[in-house]
Amino acid sequence: MIHLPKKSKVHLNIDGQNNYIHVNCIDKKAELSIEIHGDNNKIFIDQLASGKLTIRLGGADKVFNGQISFGKNIYVTDDLLCTFNEDNVNISVGDFVMFAPKSMIHACDGHTIFSKDNNYPLNRSYFVKIGNHCWIGREVLILKNSEIPDGCIVGARSIVNKKFCKKNCILVGMPAKVVKENVGWSTEPPNKYKPAK
Ligand SMILES: CC(C)(COP(=O)(O)OP(=O)(O)OC[C@H]1O[C@@H](n2cnc3c(N)ncnc32)[C@H](O)[C@@H]1OP(=O)(O)O)[C@@H](O)C(=O)NCCC(=O)NCCS
Repeated sequence: MIHLPKKSKVHLNIDGQNNYIHVNCIDKKAELSIEIHGDNNKIFIDQLASGKLTIRLGGADKVFNGQISFGKNIYVTDDLLCTFNEDNVNISVGDFVMFAPKSMIHACDGHTIFSKDNNYPLNRSYFVKIGNHCWIGREVLILKNSEIPDGCIVGARSIVNKKFCKKNCILVGMPAKVVKENVGWSTEPPNKYKPAK
C-alpha cells in the first residue's frame, strides 16, 4: 500500500510484496527516493521539510519486515542515505531532526561476522534510534544498534556505533563519545542567537 501527498517529488523502485509506504507531507524543497527489494517492510514519514532523503532496503538479497519512521520537520541539508539489508531492523527518527550534508544511517553491516567456535553470527542488527531535536553533523555515519537521545548533537565526521542514554549531549569522534553534557542548540548562527532571559 502506498500513500503519498499529491505533487510530491518521490521516486519509487519497489521489487517485492506487501510493503507499506505512508508519507504525510513533503515540503517543496524536499525530495524522497525509496528503493525496496523485499517484502513486508513499512516506511512512515510524517514531514520531510528539506533536502533529499534516500531510503534503500535490501540489496542482492530480499529484506523482510523492516520498519522506518521519520517524524515531523526532518531537515536534510543535502543527501541523507538510510539503508539496511537485514530482516526485522527498525529505524526510528523523532521530530525536528537536522542532518548536515552527506550523513548516513547504515543500519546493518551487510555481511556476517561469525564465531569460529560455533559459527554463530556476531554482528546482528536490530535498530537505530534518533530522538527529537537532534543535530547530526556533516558526514556523520550512524551504524547498527545505535541510539542518539533527544537534544543531542553529533560532531562532523563522527561515527556513532552504540546506544547513548543521556539527553542533550555532544557526541564526537570515531567512535563517538560524550564530550559535553547539558547543552541545547538552536538553528540560528551563534552571533545571532539571543539567550532566553
Ligand atoms: C560538535 C561541535 C558542534 C562541537 O562544538 P563545540 O561545542 O564548540 O566543541 P569544542 O570545539 O569545544 O570541542 C569539544 C571537544 O570535542 C572535540 N571535537 C569537537 N568536534 C569534533 C569532531 N567533529 N570530531 C572529533 N572531535 C571533535 C574537540 O577536539 C574537543 O576535544 P578536547 O576537549 O579533547 O580538546 C563541532 O565541533 C562540530 O563538529 N561542528 C560541525 C557541525 C556541522 O557539521 N555543521 C554543519 C551544519 S549544516
